[in-house]
Amino acid sequence: MDKLISTDCHKMSAKILFQACACPPHPHSGALSAARAHRWLLRVAKAVTTNRRKPLMLIIHAHPRPSQSRVIKRLQEVLVAQPGAELRSLYELYPDFDIDVEAEQQALLRWQKIIWLTPVHWYSVPAMMKHWIDQVLALGWAYGHGGEALRGKTCWWVCSAGGTDPAYALREMHRRPFQDYVSPVEQTARFCGMNWWSPFVVHGAHDITEQELLQASATLEQRCEEFLTAALPEGTAP
Ligand SMILES: Cc1cc2nc3c(=O)[nH]c(=O)nc-3n(C[C@H](O)[C@H](O)[C@H](O)COP(=O)(O)O)c2cc1C
Repeated sequence: MDKLISTDCHKMSAKILFQACACPPHPHSGALSAARAHRWLLRVAKAVTTNRRKPLMLIIHAHPRPSQSRVIKRLQEVLVAQPGAELRSLYELYPDFDIDVEAEQQALLRWQKIIWLTPVHWYSVPAMMKHWIDQVLALGWAYGHGGEALRGKTCWWVCSAGGTDPAYALREMHRRPFQDYVSPVEQTARFCGMNWWSPFVVHGAHDITEQELLQASATLEQRCEEFLTAALPEGTAP
């Protein structure tokens, strides 16, 4: 049982186990009956298997030159290693930019936690990601009359930027704090009714050392855990 739980430690199975341990002893035997314990174990196994099959977060990945990527590639490795992550690499899926809108919308409908994983290009997302936003977050589906599909989901931008953190400031190279450039991306998600999770940014991506990259990966792993376990807002379907 320890092995089962440690391989996929989800809240549901933990709750069932907790109930099993907290349950009063059998009135006649004075102990937990074998049949009852067996039933609980079956429920635990079912919960664990179900959770393993069900992706917990959808990663929309857009990098125009993945073979040349160093930073996003490493961040991607961290994210896809999480149990239950579904990855959609847009430049691979749609080399001709002909996005299957229905497939993308269906993917979004499946999961509550959504990650946009991209490098920063011209103070925004790369062209394919912008095209995906234009096509997929459609009127009447994502916003406007009847556009409720994304309401209550949580969105997180995980990105890399060539510019260093100090260079994103008044009187420096990029003239504004990085958050100013985040705002249009954030507002896009919010306009569709999604909750916004503070972005994870790796600055100075061109000169980052291996040690710094390892540190960034470790921090991302921790933040990802928080992202995945954060409670959904009231009234949101799991
Ligand atoms: C077309 C293009 C535009 C870019 N624009 C920006 C920018 O606006 N701000 C910035 O900090 N870095 C910018 N960069 C640098 C990228 O963010 C950087 O190359 C990337 O984050 C490195 O990640 P990777 O190792 O995964 O490719 C740009 C790079 C390219 C190719």
